[in-house]
Amino acid sequence: MFLEENGFIQSFKNFLSSLPKTKGWSSPHLYNYQGFWLTALHLQGTLFFQNHFQSQDSDILLVTSPKCGTIWLKAMVYTLINRMQHSVLSQQHPLLTTNPHVLVPFLELINNYAQQDSPCRLYSTHSSYVSLPESVKNTNCKIIYMCRNPMDVFVSLWHYINKLRSQESQIIPFEEAFHMFCNGFTLAGPFWDHVLSYWEKSCEMPLKVLFLRYEQVKEQPLLHLTRLAEFLNCPFSIEEEETGLLDQIIKLCSFDNLSNLEVNITGKTLFGNDNTIFFRKGEVGDWKNHLTDEMVDRLNQITEHKFKGSGLKL
Ligand code: A3P
Repeated sequence: MFLEENGFIQSFKNFLSSLPKTKGWSSPHLYNYQGFWLTALHLQGTLFFQNHFQSQDSDILLVTSPKCGTIWLKAMVYTLINRMQHSVLSQQHPLLTTNPHVLVPFLELINNYAQQDSPCRLYSTHSSYVSLPESVKNTNCKIIYMCRNPMDVFVSLWHYINKLRSQESQIIPFEEAFHMFCNGFTLAGPFWDHVLSYWEKSCEMPLKVLFLRYEQVKEQPLLHLTRLAEFLNCPFSIEEEETGLLDQIIKLCSFDNLSNLEVNITGKTLFGNDNTIFFRKGEVGDWKNHLTDEMVDRLNQITEHKFKGSGLKL
């Protein structure tokens, strides 16, 4: 066993050394695997996920690029699909005592896919479409993708990484981080390629892939919660609508509510970081307070160039 493990570690190291690499944000390096940049930890998890995860027709997979509202999406979909078992108004609701990342684990960060007390399995990933296991692509498993304006994503990422980095290591200068982001050197980046691949799949297979935008969900949460429920074949009944269930779910999952829960103020992640790192402002357009006009132009140019002809606008 030990020898096998050692053998595995050595062959993983050999594999890593065969891949293109660049400087990481919170880890020493990012490695390019199947066209996307991953940390060694995420790469190891992705290989395990590709080789061992067997998807079922009833699975639901939440996909995001980091900082696009993953935790919010997890909270909403978890609450939505478990609304029969866990009454939204209950003082025992799991979201009140458990961080959404624990309720809806990242597939590339776990090695036990047994999961959950719900009738269908709910997971998440930052994986690009190309790196998803074949069984996810070939079953009727549903994929919900949430994207966000790249300017807010970059600002959110910069704040997040600097909170993550230990006190001894230096904060990444804003300009340097900006160049890394523009060049696609982020976890699961290039950001635009990640978004585009899921956008294309949502156009090709609208019953399999639902494409959401953070800004639109913020603006019209009722509409998008209804879309989510319909997409997942668990639409709200007239009675649920009349009793205000949709508003209750939106309130339970709101930034103000989640960020003020004890578990998210004092709790820690599996990796020992404070849960507070997942909650900053939760607003649309904070980029206006951080980016220069030149930075805005550069991001707009990249977005226009990358999405040209796709019909996608962010
Ligand atoms: P900001 O840094 O702009 O505030 P992710 O979950 O993918 O890491 O995304 C984190 C971003 O989502 C952060 O954005 C965070 O504040 C915001 N966020 C967290 N909870 C949210 C919620 N319930 N509603 C809306 N945004 C939320």
